Amino acid sequence: MTETTWAAARGERWRAQLPGMEAMLAPVDEPLIRALHLDGPLRIADIGCGGGATALSILRRAPAGSVVHGFDISPALVATARGRLRPEDRAIAFDVANMATAPVPAERYDRLVSRFGIMFFDDPQAAFANLAGWLAPGGRFAFAAWGPLLENPWMTIVRDAVAEVVDVPSLDTDAPGAFRYGDPRALLAALDGAGFGEVEVRQWRGALPIGGALSAPEAAKFALAAFSSFGELLAKAGGAAVDSARESLTARLAGHERDGAVRLDACVHIIEGVRA
Ligand SMILES: C[S@@+](CC[C@H](N)C(=O)[O-])C[C@H]1O[C@@H](n2cnc3c(N)ncnc32)[C@H](O)[C@@H]1O
Repeated sequence: MTETTWAAARGERWRAQLPGMEAMLAPVDEPLIRALHLDGPLRIADIGCGGGATALSILRRAPAGSVVHGFDISPALVATARGRLRPEDRAIAFDVANMATAPVPAERYDRLVSRFGIMFFDDPQAAFANLAGWLAPGGRFAFAAWGPLLENPWMTIVRDAVAEVVDVPSLDTDAPGAFRYGDPRALLAALDGAGFGEVEVRQWRGALPIGGALSAPEAAKFALAAFSSFGELLAKAGGAAVDSARESLTARLAGHERDGAVRLDACVHIIEGVRA
């Protein structure tokens, strides 16, 4: 999957699963926003903002006088994010932008934030170099990226169930993808090369509610449709493949259901630092 697909089909798929994905990822906002050090009226850019949940949550927590702009390569997601704004939401806006090529804004930002957007850049070198120019000198950034695949059962459990039925491509950490920076060394080198400094990586571990608060059968259906390209792989293999993967995954998820919701452990890296 590349940027082009995010701008088209993959963006549409994320939009189709938006309420479930946003509810699932919401626990990550707390450590991510804390890492932004919102200590005064600030100009904040949310990179790869998707449907806008994190940008909206930042606006609610930022000191009065702050401005939040969300940017995403997917026109469909930007349209959805804009559709959530109320007339009184004047301090927030959403725009379509490819971070590798979008021109540096006349007024730079004091903060850059991204929840799981930076791993999907087709050309990370160009995107990080460009983003460094978006940040005012002394400005801070905080990015959330998934930790190693094997420390993220929310994905491995689904992957294992799918792999029982169809071939699942092995992880390619040189290509855009959720676990590209599971080992953060390549990311740290890219950030360093782009001019970001004082970079620190903190680990956040927590349980994520799969698709929100869903029972095992519903969570299985959600995960197969929403995660990676599993839905496409299974659809290509035919109807029986989808059913057997769903059955196998439902059985695996049942042991993780409490009070009607499946929760699975996650390991997230929060990468923060300063523009020198
Ligand atoms: C996993 S989604 C995360 C969306 C959102 N931050 C959230 O957590 O709900 C990754 C997002 O990055 C966006 N993206 C990928 N490549 C991009 C690029 N080069 N420029 C801007 N956005 C990009 C995608 O369109 C997608 O919305």
